[in-house]
Amino acid sequence: MFFASGSGSNFQAVIDAIQNNEIEAVITGLITDKESAGALLRAKNHQIETKVILNFGSASSNEELEQQLQIWNPDLIVLAGFLRKIPTNIIRQYPDKIINIHPALLPKFGGKGFYGRHVHNAVIEAGETKSGCTVHYVNEEYDEGAIIRQSIVDVHPEDSAETLAKRVLSEEHKALPAVIKQILNQNN
Ligand code: GAR
Repeated sequence: MFFASGSGSNFQAVIDAIQNNEIEAVITGLITDKESAGALLRAKNHQIETKVILNFGSASSNEELEQQLQIWNPDLIVLAGFLRKIPTNIIRQYPDKIINIHPALLPKFGGKGFYGRHVHNAVIEAGETKSGCTVHYVNEEYDEGAIIRQSIVDVHPEDSAETLAKRVLSEEHKALPAVIKQILNQNN
């Protein structure tokens, strides 16, 4: 199952990989914290169940989240552009079963506040010549879980956050399905 707050292009990349028989899996559901998330429409287009949890992080939303996870009982939880912190009790209930994709080469440019274009702006401002994406396990600290896979791209001198984001995103769309395939032991 997936969590996403945004357009859901990474979510779509995994849907596509499943449809193309590159990965054998069923996406049980999508949780989002935003009614406007593009990922919701993508889920509906593919008959994937959805659950919108507003006020994410509040006690009542934590209960809602726990109940939903009990129903879906996922083997793997994928954070694909989800911008809220997963509650600690959930992280403890699913050890080594939650992964996240981050649009930079962790451990640099990670942690609270580093999401989306903020990450790319920080990379450009720091004068980095390389960036990329990281897929990692989720632990109780933001962006600090064990790294599973990284892909590297060049940062061009004329890059804006948008042009860099686009280059990184196209690597994300390959890295995320590849890691899911690897974790589900379908590499042979
Ligand atoms: C992706 O670039 C993802 O790495 C990033 O949000 C974007 C979501 O795009 N995630 C973070 O910044 C998490 N800290 P998408 O909705 O098109 O998949």
